[in-house]
Amino acid sequence: MVKHVFLIGFMGCGKSSVGKRLSYLLKQPYLDTDDRIEEWEGKKITQIFADEGEEYFRLQETEVIKSLFDARQPYVVSVGGGLVLREKNRRIIKKQGICIYLRATADTLYQRLQKDTQRPLLQVEDPKARIESLLAKRSAIYESCADRIVDVDGLDLPRVAELVRGAFEEEKAARRQRRMEKEESQNRLVQSREQNEESGGNGNEKKILVMHGPNLNFLGIREPEIYGTASYADLVAYIQAEADKRGLTVSFFQSNHEGALIDRIQEAYYDHTEGIIINPGALTHYSYALHDALASVDRIQKIEVHLSDITKREGFRAQSVTKAACQAQIYGKGFAGYADALDEMARLLGLEQNEEKES
Ligand code: DQA
Repeated sequence: MVKHVFLIGFMGCGKSSVGKRLSYLLKQPYLDTDDRIEEWEGKKITQIFADEGEEYFRLQETEVIKSLFDARQPYVVSVGGGLVLREKNRRIIKKQGICIYLRATADTLYQRLQKDTQRPLLQVEDPKARIESLLAKRSAIYESCADRIVDVDGLDLPRVAELVRGAFEEEKAARRQRRMEKEESQNRLVQSREQNEESGGNGNEKKILVMHGPNLNFLGIREPEIYGTASYADLVAYIQAEADKRGLTVSFFQSNHEGALIDRIQEAYYDHTEGIIINPGALTHYSYALHDALASVDRIQKIEVHLSDITKREGFRAQSVTKAACQAQIYGKGFAGYADALDEMARLLGLEQNEEKES
């Protein structure tokens, strides 16, 4: 799949020089939208503005980025400062690759542009004021269009190019990761639907899903004075052993992503999970989306667990927005809180091993 990298930003932010260097670093050909239009038209941009007007130039800009759909290999594209102001152009860019905003302050831009006579928009009495007012109008658009932002003030060209390359690689990796998670989640959904169909929707094993939210995979590393030195793997082993003692069937899911947790809760609806024990991490305190996901699977019993005592820590932790969607909340007991949660879940599901009943 061809994926171009687009450099956007105000005139003078360094898109062309950074673009050329990046093209060398990534071994991808370079294209400058302004240069391409000058080539097509056989004249300088100032002349195009004078002869044909700005609107004509803007139409040519759209044609240049559209032509990239036919490219056989990924390009590094330096994008004219006004090009992304058009919604249509932003959409064309989004479809074709990764967009990086080279962000500079008005002061930096003025320093770089004050002697430039080639920029039609700056041929005015007070170019500094012009830069400031244009930047004020444009910066929100640049930011919203960008996948990544690199601040360029005070940095030399090689450094900016390195940062841009890093941002590009990070964005590529993040997209790959999101794609994989989406695929995994879709596969799981298909699987659980299939299992559901196979069992005629009547699976009778009471499944308990133990879910962990952001940063809980970092147990043992993160703040050991609060959470202890045992790892997430240790916690899973502990819960599994406690579940085995009680004859309960548990499975585990951890994610640092709110959406992935929500997807898993929705799958739980299809795969006939009967109980969810969840430690949502910091999402506890603000994720209404997670609350809604838990609330939407109302035939599933839910228990919220926290290792630490959230009522005795920073003020923002005292509130749990997910609690209202759960039948019980257990906190401040470390690992043992999960054993209590299993007991409580067994009771809620009518699975407790009651000796009196058995005799
Ligand atoms: C936590 C408490 C949360 O406030 C925090 O953000 C966590 C862990 C606990 O288990 O104590 O990530 O859920």
